[in-house]
Amino acid sequence: MANASYPPPIQGHGLVLRPWDEDLVRQMAAWGERGFPYSAFDLGYLKDPQRARTKLAWAREAGPHRHFVACEGPRAVGRLSVNLRDTAGLYLWGVHVPPEHEGRGVCRRMMAAAMGWLEAEYPASDFILTSNAFSERAHHAYLALGFEVTETRWHHESDLAMQLWKVAPAEREALSPFLRFSNGRWEVRTHVMKRKRGAPMALSPGRRGEVPSGTA
Ligand SMILES: CC(C)(COP(=O)(O)OP(=O)(O)OC[C@H]1O[C@@H](n2cnc3c(N)ncnc32)[C@H](O)[C@@H]1OP(=O)(O)O)[C@@H](O)C(=O)NCCC(=O)NCCS
Repeated sequence: MANASYPPPIQGHGLVLRPWDEDLVRQMAAWGERGFPYSAFDLGYLKDPQRARTKLAWAREAGPHRHFVACEGPRAVGRLSVNLRDTAGLYLWGVHVPPEHEGRGVCRRMMAAAMGWLEAEYPASDFILTSNAFSERAHHAYLALGFEVTETRWHHESDLAMQLWKVAPAEREALSPFLRFSNGRWEVRTHVMKRKRGAPMALSPGRRGEVPSGTA
């Protein structure tokens, strides 16, 4: 059934962005998982019918957030969400492409399609996102799309902090440049990135951007 909070499917760059539905939830439940340190993105828990129903209801709520699945034809290949009412700007989050679809520009293409729609619908706003400093692939995509790092700060992220207590020391060590233990809790270095509406976007692979060293 159509949901009044959502636009007709957003088309662009070889993708169609659609709101979550039962079929797409089933597909996302079967996506490959990455595990630590990206466990918060993994969706295997949607194989549980009860959790799938709850999450679908959450994803279709009429509130500040819109949750999209990027599809190639009928196939779900990525997802992203946007908070339309964040005071800092259109806040993109939950950007996720499963391992079996990575490296084909799905991230860049779905973000470009979403931002094209958002620029038309919300012409007064620029874009903002936050990203853990170790997510280097994501940064390549964001910088190629015209985002710039405006601030780097320490942030307590509860999912990641919980995992940090559980993983082997070697796994934690691999992230050590980006972690600190402060006031009894784990914190991760996090970039705030902003993009002005209309900023140029490079969609083809290999347009490498680096987060300037001073900010990382
Ligand atoms: C980050 C993520 C969304 C990227 O998705 P994607 O569709 O593979 O992204 P793109 O194809 O647009 O590529 C982004 C960059 O990652 C690189 N990349 C992607 N897959 C790669 C791989 N297997 N090996 C090496 N580099 C890879 C690409 O080359 C590209 O860099 P470039 O522009 O310099 O060539 C995806 O890896 C993911 O979901 N990761 C886990 C969750 C996450 O980190 N989300 C972002 C949180 S802020």
